[in-house]
Amino acid sequence: MITRRSIAASIAAATLSTAALAQPAPASSTKSSAGAASSAPSFDAKVELQADRPGPTINRNIYGSFAEHLGRGVYEGIWVGEGSPIPNTRGLRNDVIAALRKVRLPVLRWPGGCFADEYHWRDGIGRRAQRPRRANTSWGGVETNAFGLHEFMDFAALIGAEPYVSVNVGSGTPQEMMEWLEYMTSGSDSALAQLRRSNGRKEPWKVKFVGIGNEAWGCGGNMTPEHYADEYKRYAAFVKKYGDESFVKIAVGPSDEDYNWTEVVMKQAAKHIDGLSLHYYTLPTGNWKSKGSATTFEEPEWRSTLSRTLRMDTFITKHSAIMDKYDPQKRVALIVDEWGTWYDTEPGKGALYQQSTLRDGLVAALNLNLFNQHADRVKMAASAQTINVLQSMILTDQAKMVLTPTYHVFEMYAVHQDATLLPLEIKAPRYGAGADALPSLHGSASRDARGVLHVSLVNLDPKRSAEVTLALKGRSAKSISGRVLTAATINALNDFQSGSVVVPKPLEGKVTSGGVSVSLPSKSVSVLSIE
Ligand code: AHR
Repeated sequence: MITRRSIAASIAAATLSTAALAQPAPASSTKSSAGAASSAPSFDAKVELQADRPGPTINRNIYGSFAEHLGRGVYEGIWVGEGSPIPNTRGLRNDVIAALRKVRLPVLRWPGGCFADEYHWRDGIGRRAQRPRRANTSWGGVETNAFGLHEFMDFAALIGAEPYVSVNVGSGTPQEMMEWLEYMTSGSDSALAQLRRSNGRKEPWKVKFVGIGNEAWGCGGNMTPEHYADEYKRYAAFVKKYGDESFVKIAVGPSDEDYNWTEVVMKQAAKHIDGLSLHYYTLPTGNWKSKGSATTFEEPEWRSTLSRTLRMDTFITKHSAIMDKYDPQKRVALIVDEWGTWYDTEPGKGALYQQSTLRDGLVAALNLNLFNQHADRVKMAASAQTINVLQSMILTDQAKMVLTPTYHVFEMYAVHQDATLLPLEIKAPRYGAGADALPSLHGSASRDARGVLHVSLVNLDPKRSAEVTLALKGRSAKSISGRVLTAATINALNDFQSGSVVVPKPLEGKVTSGGVSVSLPSKSVSVLSIE
């Protein structure tokens, strides 16, 4: 089903010793969040924020997501049909629309994934009753095509997201792709534009982002990078312009540490590419045959999951360095359009369905911090996936819906969208010991258009709170407010029975002579706003 090259190598490189993982974190002090003596262990951290520096803009599209025709992601998660008792707008469920509007999802990738390379867009237009039913050979079951292009565009508009369409390279043709792009974006009276009108859409849609294939090294065609680079150039030559705006052409990039893929594709095709994708999934074990449980885990798996997530930093840094060789101006964006946790699937709940815990909230926050930090090269990202699939933002059970910790992190971090990245230095003890030790505190910071400073801080330590002294350089602080996402246990979750347990709460800090101070609970994600 999914072929991943170099999995063995990446597992070998990333395997953490169980002994090291199991080492308890030493307590450095015993202050409570208020600073008074208590039995709750804590550590001290010094953070320095350069508040007045120029920096790259954190592209809002870093906060995007991905919805594939897979399991209950699209069907039930988005589409329930016009006749459904679940409240909907033209068949699209209202609760999900409201939740995604609130989180300010800027961009949504569709229809895959592996599915994109078997999808033929004409199957999903015209009268619904006449649309063909096709085997979904990537993920099982039958694709009814009830949710096609018009439904996707309607959904994207309702949630306020820009569409990012992945076209079929694996089993399609440049002609099929050309016709799709013309159908969507031509304002002329060409036959394809008229066909769109006859299907109910008068004005052309604004579609900027076009992904040319998906995982061409695996499910998208098992290609070598040399072969894909040639295919890419052939397809890219036929991505024409039908309105005023050119498309942003996104090439299939590497999986995790496949640096040769980046080298070859950039060398052969950089001048035709606007964005290069990167896919990396976090597996607690690093083993695709036995990935680990989403909900039943102890501190060793907590640590290995966070540690493996932080590998994203190395991947982005090294792929960016290769891109710099062929694109020193950084014109080509690195687009992390599949990221997130991938656990053993829960049986009976649809393909790739997994619950989400506080741990996933921290994984989201670490990844988003890293994308912020690399804002000079990373211009777009998409969490995998939006609803009911992998590290979802939202889970549904028929008419019921819950928001996951990942959703809450996206909502808290939305303040960084289009803000200016600021340098943030963190000095804190390590979490754990030896070569496998992790940072106990991880963060990113930005200044928004109104001049408000936003600092995101993740306390990875599951036992110790962090007493943070934040020194503000180049500015003084008048006030501080904040929100924190944490829970009593590392595997706390929101579900249909017990409801919302992991939700953001207000966090208090203090303005000091040199900046601010704040106490961050263990195992938490916080976002501070300083004015
Ligand atoms: O997100 C699930 C799958 O993971 C996607 O279809 C594919 O691109 C990747 O391997």
